[in-house]
Amino acid sequence: MNIITSIAEMQQAALLLKRAGKGIAFVPTMGYLHEGHASLLREGRSRGDSLVLSIFVNPIQFGPSEDLERYPRNLEGDCAIARECGVDIVFTPTAAEMYPPGFQTAIRVKELALPLCGASRPGHFDGVATVVTKLFNIVQPDLALFGKKDFQQLAIIRRMVADLSLPVEIVGMPIVREADGLAMSSRNAYLSPDQRQSALSLSKAIRLVRERYAAGERNAARLIEAARNLILAKPAATIDYLELRDAATLATVSDVSDTTLMALAVIIGTTRLIDNTLLGDER
Ligand code: PAF
Repeated sequence: MNIITSIAEMQQAALLLKRAGKGIAFVPTMGYLHEGHASLLREGRSRGDSLVLSIFVNPIQFGPSEDLERYPRNLEGDCAIARECGVDIVFTPTAAEMYPPGFQTAIRVKELALPLCGASRPGHFDGVATVVTKLFNIVQPDLALFGKKDFQQLAIIRRMVADLSLPVEIVGMPIVREADGLAMSSRNAYLSPDQRQSALSLSKAIRLVRERYAAGERNAARLIEAARNLILAKPAATIDYLELRDAATLATVSDVSDTTLMALAVIIGTTRLIDNTLLGDER
């Protein structure tokens, strides 16, 4: 496994792979890898001739009062997981190389970035769209894999790739959960044992809404209220948003259907966690 930190070197490696006719599968991450990332890497391994992982905690997708400084990092542990998953190249640039003095370009996907996480984290998705475009230009992937836990991020990247005619296939992969239902996230590392218990309220709220939907409830307001009550009963849990929206447009709905997305962000102590489900999905 080759570890590359320079953009020029990564671009050269990608060029050589392309010339040799190798298809590049790419998993962009901010590191502190867990089983969710490993599932993306294994899928990438099975689909690409060559597998590239990027590890870069992207400063421009964090707001001024967010957790950029304390975001968990463990390059050694990440490389061990990457090796196990058959990664060929780990690309881990510095922020100074990615954003040299004078950097001033941004990619913005307009409407899809407005609600949900876009409303609570202004500028976040501009930072994501910009770094993903830049990483695509550096790594030159044929396909790139993203987790569905960041449903809105995935929708924005798909839109951006279509709008800008980027020659990359985008693959969305299922949410990976702990045995008790907690969606895997690098930010779970911030939770104390008590907070981890409270964090289960996200997946429990999802289960409740899915059960009521399966039992015939279609009224969005009633479903939201039931889910909110469940979460607010937990200590140290405050709801950032809990919404039912059309999965394609992210517009709000008053009656739910199989194509409705339930998306929520909950702050447990000082840790903001997100989760979601598509009501029509099997799980
Ligand atoms: O999902 C993430 O880890 C990040 O938002 C991404 C896509 C790697 C961009 O920094």
